[in-house]
Amino acid sequence: MRTQVGIIGAGPAGLLLSRLLALQGIDSVVLENRSRDYVEARIRAGILEQHTVDTLSAVGLGDRLHREGLEHSGIYLQYPGTRHKLDFPELCGRTVWVYGQTEVVKDLIAAQLDGGPPLLFEVSDVQPEDVDTDSPRIRFTDADGNPQLLECDVIAGTDGFHGPSRTLVQESSRGRTWERTYPYAWLGILADAAPATDELIYAWHPEGFALYSMRSPKVSRLYLQVDPSEKIEDWSDERIWDALDTRFALDGWSVNRGPVTDKSILPMRSFVSAPMRRGRLFLAGDAAHIVPPTGAKGLNLAVADVTLLATALVRLLQEGRSDLVDAYSDTALRRVWRCTHFSWFMTSMLHRSGDDFDAQLQLSQLERVCSSEAAARELAENYTGLPIG
Ligand code: APR
Ligand code: PHB
Repeated sequence: MRTQVGIIGAGPAGLLLSRLLALQGIDSVVLENRSRDYVEARIRAGILEQHTVDTLSAVGLGDRLHREGLEHSGIYLQYPGTRHKLDFPELCGRTVWVYGQTEVVKDLIAAQLDGGPPLLFEVSDVQPEDVDTDSPRIRFTDADGNPQLLECDVIAGTDGFHGPSRTLVQESSRGRTWERTYPYAWLGILADAAPATDELIYAWHPEGFALYSMRSPKVSRLYLQVDPSEKIEDWSDERIWDALDTRFALDGWSVNRGPVTDKSILPMRSFVSAPMRRGRLFLAGDAAHIVPPTGAKGLNLAVADVTLLATALVRLLQEGRSDLVDAYSDTALRRVWRCTHFSWFMTSMLHRSGDDFDAQLQLSQLERVCSSEAAARELAENYTGLPIG
């Protein structure tokens, strides 16, 4: 088998890259080790920055998003006694959309299987090879158990944190990583309950952070800060709803309860791997960086990476010019570090940890963001998405 761009991983990064390349006349093959059902059932975050919506619309995937997605004009920041709305259009002229990453992936897979480039599920033993030469290849075993070799001009490692691509880049002499593990986790639930709020609520509370999000007018997505050692079995639905009531408490308002359809505990960490390239292997998305979910940046960063990478690869493969692929890692990492900083800022401001001195600093910062237009605008610009490139 031969293709121009061999893409490892069918998450949002790999699938969108394949589509962006196809629209510019570049061939690719996407290799995914999980099944289609598995990939389409993973529950992930759900906030799309303006540029993510624009990119998805530009590649013909805006219809269901605009029909079923919910455009949001801000967020609420809450701390005891106060719930303050940051109005994004007023602060920075942009909005965000609530549309689950799972739905983005379903739309991308449907488009790919409808006449798009090959997308192979349930492959195994995927290994990029010869990435330091001009003819890299990917060795893998197909779903029927046959060994295969995919010859490529370039390989895109969009295989997430646990895939083989990041390891290969790190093995090169210039490889370096940075990591921060936060001392708390999120307990997330999905519930068949109408959201009791028009915008997402990010709440600071002495007992811990809580986030009120949603997936549709009938489905709520809620999170509670918990200790990373907590076991999900110890959290009955009732205990979760009671904790949400406590942390979101506001006079004359209450959380809407309903049947809980999913429950899990997610770790919180930051991770950055540099460079985002080794020879003819390029990393994008979670393969190169992980952010804690507080800033809602994971999916949006993946989209920004592949938008840059697609432009750079088109230039290389159609015009034979390597200037943009040579700049790719540095250009992408500048934005990655900005988003890593923003995610760290939101995480540190909102989660209860440390002593009472830390709590007073957090409350002081929250008051500042809720009273200073300059501080609010800084948050709004980062939340709705900084320019790509
Ligand atoms: N071979 C083939 N595919 C692999 C391999 C492998 N060895 N290892 C992992 N994969 C696949 C995973 O099954 C997954 O479908 O690579 C894909 C990576 O997708 P994601 O984890 O979704 O990562 P990415 O596409 O970079 O999307 C960015 O944003 O909200 C965040 O973390 C969230 O997934 C999200 C991310
Ligand atoms: C979500 O809806 O899953 C979500 C929203 C905002 C965040 C994180 C997660 O900051």
